[in-house]
Amino acid sequence: MSTQFKKIAEDTYWIGKIDNRQVPFHRLILAKGTTYNSYLLKTGKPTVIDTVDMEFGREYAECLGEMIDLLDIHYIVINHTEPDHSGGLAALAAKAANATIVCTEIAVPELQEMYKLHSRNFLVVKDGDKLDIGGKTLLFKETPYLHTAETMITYCIEDQILFPCDIFSTHVAVENLFSDEAGFDITEDFQGYYAAIIHPHRRYVRTLLEAVKDLEIRMIAPSHGFVIREDIRKYIDMYATLSRETTQGKKATIVYTTIKNSTKKMAKIIQDCLQENNIETEVWDADKSSATDILNSITSADAVFIGSSTKYADMIGNLENILKELHNMNLEGKLAAAFGSYGWSGEAIEVIQDYLNGTNMTVQSTSEVIKSTGMTHVEFPVRIRFSPKEPEKVQKIKNAAEFVSDLLLSSF
Ligand code: FEO
Repeated sequence: MSTQFKKIAEDTYWIGKIDNRQVPFHRLILAKGTTYNSYLLKTGKPTVIDTVDMEFGREYAECLGEMIDLLDIHYIVINHTEPDHSGGLAALAAKAANATIVCTEIAVPELQEMYKLHSRNFLVVKDGDKLDIGGKTLLFKETPYLHTAETMITYCIEDQILFPCDIFSTHVAVENLFSDEAGFDITEDFQGYYAAIIHPHRRYVRTLLEAVKDLEIRMIAPSHGFVIREDIRKYIDMYATLSRETTQGKKATIVYTTIKNSTKKMAKIIQDCLQENNIETEVWDADKSSATDILNSITSADAVFIGSSTKYADMIGNLENILKELHNMNLEGKLAAAFGSYGWSGEAIEVIQDYLNGTNMTVQSTSEVIKSTGMTHVEFPVRIRFSPKEPEKVQKIKNAAEFVSDLLLSSF
């Protein structure tokens, strides 16, 4: 089926591709297919908001060309760079030669590299920026990590329409565009989408809720599935409810050995972060505490962080005895992460990781983080060269502790 278009408000059109294939998507198979929704605001400075999957870029540009002379397009807003929304940009930008691409700063190099757009005009927008598009005004709100770093949402002030790209979407390939015309309750699809795409990033839903709290929204026009124009607040509140934090009763244990206190400082940063997330946290210096106390603490913990400085390419102090004991214990269901400060290669951190992998705990690794969430700013094991003084080192440690905190939230 070819790309279609439909009027959704005055001078505002949905241009969509209904894709009813059961394609793989974020480690899922889209059982009900999906749609890729783009929008044309036919104003004094005609503006396109998001495009469609790269596979359909050419037919999308042709469809858009039936609605407007592509050379008249003034702005192309890209809320999110994943190719299911920015993919049509290659075909569109080639024909919409006068258009300026509007996006966040992080998105610029991504779009330039993905679609060879180095010579195009970009307009970088920041949180709260407004853009006059000739008869309508767009307001931009940054919503990082929902679900990638560069993500933003766009709000048309005059029409009170929110264009949130992936957020508030549904994966369904249906002809009826509006949720109130679906003929069934979309809640299951809405929540299913939330669980798959948004929930791994639920910490950032707070930013989103803050961004939309003062907006009068009469329509949500996302980039997959249904456009919502009834019970708007119900759907926003659903995100608030589903992302609510409950770490109550959760415990963590941090065990470390340290040479010059850098690994100890890392332990403190992890502890502070976990406690800020309402996780009861015990911290043990393995060289100054009894092994029995440490092992009892680990037994009652939901998450275990183990760290050591590296000396002569190995761990230091009593840590290895503790780690050997863990192999004789049933620790199923617990999360585990390795950390440490180092000066040259940081072998101790990798040795700890190997020991943890020999237990039946769920050991955090960068590879698993990327595969399960797409996040690249969270790294395990947590390796810090020398003392964690600089803000970026502190942030790296916090990112890991926050990630584990989120995993300890009550399940969705
Ligand atoms: Fe629908 Fe993140 O792409």
